[in-house]
Amino acid sequence: MGGMRVLVIGSGGREHALAWKLCKSPSVEKVFAAPGNPGMEPVAEAIPLSADQTVELAQFAQSSRIDLTVVGPEGPLTGGIVDYFQLKGLPVFGPTKAAARLEGSKGFAKELMQRRAVPTAGFQLFDSAERALAFLKESRMPVVVKADGLAGGKGAIICRSIEEAASAVSGMLSQQLFGEAGSRVVIEEFLEGEEVSILGVVDGTHVALLAPSQDHKRIFEKDQGPNTGGMGAVSPVPALEEAELAQIRKRIFEPAIQEMSNRGTPFKGVLYAGLMLTSEGPKVLEFNVRFGDPETQAILPRLQTDLAELLLSAVEGKVDRVALKWDPKSCACVVLASRGYPEKPELGREITGLESVAELEETLLFHAGTKREGSRWLTWGGRVLNLVGLGNSLEAALERAYQAQERIHFEGKQFRRDIGSRALKYRERVNK
Ligand code: AMP
Ligand code: GLY
Repeated sequence: MGGMRVLVIGSGGREHALAWKLCKSPSVEKVFAAPGNPGMEPVAEAIPLSADQTVELAQFAQSSRIDLTVVGPEGPLTGGIVDYFQLKGLPVFGPTKAAARLEGSKGFAKELMQRRAVPTAGFQLFDSAERALAFLKESRMPVVVKADGLAGGKGAIICRSIEEAASAVSGMLSQQLFGEAGSRVVIEEFLEGEEVSILGVVDGTHVALLAPSQDHKRIFEKDQGPNTGGMGAVSPVPALEEAELAQIRKRIFEPAIQEMSNRGTPFKGVLYAGLMLTSEGPKVLEFNVRFGDPETQAILPRLQTDLAELLLSAVEGKVDRVALKWDPKSCACVVLASRGYPEKPELGREITGLESVAELEETLLFHAGTKREGSRWLTWGGRVLNLVGLGNSLEAALERAYQAQERIHFEGKQFRRDIGSRALKYRERVNK
């Protein structure tokens, strides 16, 4: 299809990367973003509707003759935005509310995996604090205590002692610190290994796996401090072999997709498997039902296939007819965050140096939490900017991203200097 009009829903770095890639797609005439962010202006027209204004978004898609809507964040997906668009006959890329439960309820995802013997950490599901505490007494530490529902990346607590685990369980089940999301908890076995993100574009039946990536979730270097949405990502993951990816497809993606289809709730959209590469093989830590942020910023610059055609083929149930092509280069994304992120980010600090990044070769800049006031740019969120470098090696890609980092200034700028170091160490270990 030529001359497509595409709407991207969301406002983060992931959505900027999606809009940028879609804008380059030969089959796309125009990209809109709702609400988008001001950095996206060169690639997408901003529509002043927020991601939760389902009815208004559908009205816009209808009246503006949108050929494809792409939903970025999990909130609208688990809330049923795709169901509403489908009801109105509007082409939309993403899972229905029933299929989005794979991310919206960890208990649901764990039971589905158990049913199909998808490799994952051993677990138990509880809605009673008393039973959960009794179970902990019999468990070997560490364990991971997880709120069942969406908790913005903060719902998984790694507990090294029974006391810590008991306090996590009581916080969720008795004190309702996570609200409704913590009214059920999963207690699961702690897994050791290298963490990777494998994203697949799914059409209900088939899956096209995207290039592997690795996120860095903790706020501080050496994986210290609290979890964040993600402080940086690299793609590909150098030591991950084709054979391992084939296993991941066969043992994880195919059974999960089949099971969703058998239940009458086929999965369409991005299925994102957060995996631990353990000594017993890859195991699922979690499923997400959307593009990862910042993984997308490191994956899409390498994609040589037309993104709009790929996503449309998923909507139409024809992903098996698309062959994905990748730039062999490596890509690295470094996130710049505000002081106080992830707990309480400071907003409104002036950002300088943005224009000078545009001069750099093989370097991209995706905005996340920024705001423009006249000719001034301000920080306006926890994660502010994504600096992306491409190179013939992971080292070269990282060097470009970090060179760009040096040019950007704002008070309280936080970032990790060790993005990519895990992937490099892992490569050394595997190659020994
Ligand atoms: P989740 O919200 O389930 O993705 O968990 C957030 C993060 O906690 C993951 O990205 C891992 O780093 C860590 N994590 C979750 N589950 C486990 C587990 N079973 N073993 C070790 N680490 C885990
Ligand atoms: N980068 C982690 C996520 O998107 O959930």
